[in-house]
Amino acid sequence: MPQISKQQPLPSMSWLLQYLRPVKWRMLTLMLLLLSTTALQLLNPQIVQRFIDQATGSGSVSSLLSLAGLYLAVAVLSQLLTVLVDYLGNDISWRATNRIRANLLKHALRLDMRFHNVKTPGEMIERIDGDVTHMSNFFSMFIAKIFGSFVLLAGILGYMFVYNWQIAATMTIFTCLSVGVMFGIRDIGVRASQSERQANAALFGLIEERIAGIEDVQANGGVPRLMNRYHRAMRSVFLAGRKAWMLRVMPWNVTVVMFTITVTIVLMMSVRMYLQGQITLGMLFLFFQYTQMLNEPIEQLGDQLQEFQKAKSGMRRAHELLTLQSEISDGDDDELPQGPLSVSFEGVNFSYNEDQRILHDISFKLKSGERLGLIGRTGSGKSSISRLLLRLYNLDSGVIRVGDVDIRTLRLASLYRRIGMVTQDVQLFDGTLRDNLSLFDPNLSDQKILETTERLGLRPWIEAMPQGLDSRLSAGGASLSAGEAQLFALTRVFLTQPSLVILDEPSSRLDAATEAILQTAVDQLLESCTGIVIAHRLDTLDKVDKIMVLRDGRIIEFGKRAALAQDPSSEYARLLRANRQEELA
Ligand SMILES: Nc1ncnc2c1ncn2[C@@H]1O[C@H](COP(=O)(O)OP(=O)(O)OP(=O)(O)O)[C@@H](O)[C@H]1O
Ligand SMILES: [Mg+2]
Repeated sequence: MPQISKQQPLPSMSWLLQYLRPVKWRMLTLMLLLLSTTALQLLNPQIVQRFIDQATGSGSVSSLLSLAGLYLAVAVLSQLLTVLVDYLGNDISWRATNRIRANLLKHALRLDMRFHNVKTPGEMIERIDGDVTHMSNFFSMFIAKIFGSFVLLAGILGYMFVYNWQIAATMTIFTCLSVGVMFGIRDIGVRASQSERQANAALFGLIEERIAGIEDVQANGGVPRLMNRYHRAMRSVFLAGRKAWMLRVMPWNVTVVMFTITVTIVLMMSVRMYLQGQITLGMLFLFFQYTQMLNEPIEQLGDQLQEFQKAKSGMRRAHELLTLQSEISDGDDDELPQGPLSVSFEGVNFSYNEDQRILHDISFKLKSGERLGLIGRTGSGKSSISRLLLRLYNLDSGVIRVGDVDIRTLRLASLYRRIGMVTQDVQLFDGTLRDNLSLFDPNLSDQKILETTERLGLRPWIEAMPQGLDSRLSAGGASLSAGEAQLFALTRVFLTQPSLVILDEPSSRLDAATEAILQTAVDQLLESCTGIVIAHRLDTLDKVDKIMVLRDGRIIEFGKRAALAQDPSSEYARLLRANRQEELA
């Protein structure tokens, strides 16, 4: 399994640029809009200043009214611009981050089963969606807002220097100190934010896993234990979140204190100047207003730094996922012989975990078109053999050939196109029966689907569904019984016209009628391809050519079914006898 290291480097600039490039014009527009709002922000206090001075001096009512009108117009315009900025910002961030989401999903879908076995779906959702959401601000507002804040600061300070250098100097010192402190300790919360994200991912993983297993949890009275684990996960989210938050707001707290001091100093200086008649009342207001306004860009810089920390941890985690390589390397051979495919295992050894070997020295051959019945106790390794045929895992040693081609040299897509598998627990997707049968392939016509179901003898079953092919199924398989799900999966595989099928029979028992339908369908399916039937009931295997018996990951018997059935000393014959006695009892 690919390992995830603790601390990954930040993704490179070119990684970021590939997502930023498609939105560059929008970003430029956003920047211009923000500049305009900044200009309006600077303008408004000056209108008020004129208004106050004219009101306290000798201004006419009409000039006061026009100033008031101007103020109103500027205010409305800046609101409009704010709406536009928000819209555009969101638009950009969705565009950019959706691309990352799609890439992450695509990549995760290609990662090998060893990776997915240890990742809960909930955690994957957090990583593909949650982490990326944390980056969204970075992609939309970050550059524009940092830029806008600096322009606003420069505007305020520049203006103040024209009027009064002492006050301007005080404001500049405060600004430099605040910004300096913020940049100095900006990284303080990154590590903590990353732990917070991890704790969140774990919590979601827990919730998802438990909801998926809700039946088992309820039936076994596991709710209190589950709640206990849930509370513990919540606790780590809380602790990690509190720590991350405290560290993240530290720079902000520092500036609040400094800001309060600055406002006091500026106010004292301006009031003195006013009392000495150096400035007008309007100017006093303007100075005060501009000092107040200093806070906004500084706070915004702080916010952006905080967002940047979140984005950085999100980016690290996204990048880390994207750099994980699947241990299954794709081959480049497309050539498989036409028609049913032969299968051969040569000295295959396999283990899921290093310490425990699951399959030992498995060697056998199936000619093209032959049908194999695979039997053995639960846990003997039957499903594992099928997983290896589909290259869901790499072998420890040995070779598997399909159609005389080593499957490692084949492109995975070519392999999957020719092999069909019905697993023990069939997965359904949210959609109509048609979507589920065709796996959302729009090129598959209803006629073809109905023809296939007819051939498999499943037509009455589909006709019994309330809306035929349009009936909605819900994900997870809750809307079909185990037998129905198997019938359904058979049809799905049949529609892909495989050259090799693997049928992993469910261990649950089906009723006699369903079983008969299923058997007919299986026989139909196996007529045109090579087949491996993993069976829990021997009667399912009446029509296979060969039998393999597995025990503890080893082949203890392999041969022609008819011959084995007639040889009283064979394991298969022994199992048949036991089966018959069971039926009689
Ligand atoms: N993903 C996995 N990770 C680790 N071990 C696994 C994994 N899947 C299966 N195993 C182990 O491999 C062994 C063989 O499992 P396998 O699923 O092949 O058995 P099986 O013969 O299909 O059993 P059943 O009849 O119950 O379906 C078992 O001991 C099982 O615990
Ligand atoms: Mg199995």
